[in-house]
Amino acid sequence: LESGLARTPQLGWNDWNSFGCNVSDTLIRQTADAMVSSGMAAAGYRYVNIDDCWSQRTRNGSGDLVPDPQKFPNGMKALADYVHGKGLKIGIYSSAGLTTCAGYPASLNNEQRDAKLWASWGIDYLKYDNCGDTQGKSGQQRYTAMRDALATSGRPILFAICNWGTDSVGSWGPATGNSWRTTGDIAGNWNSVMGILDSQPGWMSYSKPGAWNDPDMLEVGNGLSDTESRAHFSLWAVLNAPLIAGNDLRTMSAATKAILTNTEVIGVNQDWGGRQGNRIADNGNSEVWAKPMANGSAAVVLLNRASSTATVSTTAAQLGLGGAASYSVRDLWAHTTSTTGSTISASVPAHGAAMYLVTGGTGSTTGTFALRGSQSGRC
Ligand code: DGJ
Repeated sequence: LESGLARTPQLGWNDWNSFGCNVSDTLIRQTADAMVSSGMAAAGYRYVNIDDCWSQRTRNGSGDLVPDPQKFPNGMKALADYVHGKGLKIGIYSSAGLTTCAGYPASLNNEQRDAKLWASWGIDYLKYDNCGDTQGKSGQQRYTAMRDALATSGRPILFAICNWGTDSVGSWGPATGNSWRTTGDIAGNWNSVMGILDSQPGWMSYSKPGAWNDPDMLEVGNGLSDTESRAHFSLWAVLNAPLIAGNDLRTMSAATKAILTNTEVIGVNQDWGGRQGNRIADNGNSEVWAKPMANGSAAVVLLNRASSTATVSTTAAQLGLGGAASYSVRDLWAHTTSTTGSTISASVPAHGAAMYLVTGGTGSTTGTFALRGSQSGRC
């Protein structure tokens, strides 16, 4: 969506993956504090997002949504002011139906009213779910109505479509939202993360600045091992996915913090070299995912899905970088640089990934980068 927002994939946090319906003013304030004190804000994270279950069970007499006074005793405007005071932005949640997935009032037929209310509170981001649609309108109609309401709300509000990859969202999502979910819900286990990954090839052609494929929020530090979390984060980075942390920022381990604040990996996510990353080799449990970087380098993730250590390899030619005698390989997790010939190879632990930036060869020097070759059509 050309709204000027999300020119790079949005970075933030959302309460749902760790807290479900237990969202509150206290949680949001403490999370905003932790986003700054942990170094996440310095690493680029901006949005502190409220998910389902924030409102009262019914609209008020004038038809407006009302924050649950138990959960949000200070109201949303005061909370937004607090988050803004930290240099951060705040997001809210509703659904393109009559009720949210948890049964709270949602925004179908109240788009203008709700968008104006959120704008008056200082809201910067809307996650718009797909529950409660009982009136038979198409996804495109329902999400376009909210897009238009946000556009006239008087405030720039990032529009994150959450319709789980349904209704052919690839065909209308890029003109309607800043991102759109491509799948059902993620869960904090390896099989879920890999299952979502498997459904990502095919979405690549829809992604561009202002309009991102969203394979759902992160489960880094949420039931995954540190090795699995690094793989998950590496893969979401090359997919140009919104990086929305889903763990408890107040209590995360040093290892989780180091993963989420790896600015070299975030740098890959935020770079636009013409298309998002995609799977370029699938050898059973060993996969190679890669994306072109704006400077002609290739970002590559060597993934080992097996339950024991394996060597995973690619070549400069496969990355579209053929032609040089040697290549510079930056290890984005070890933060070291080495030189290699035409094979890029790593011993990768079970359920793990290595992530490199590979520079050199024809891609970098002539700009005729093979990874950029398949931009048209779904791949
Ligand atoms: C379904 C969405 O996909 C989830 O991310 C979350 O927002 C829940 N609904 C909330 O009910």
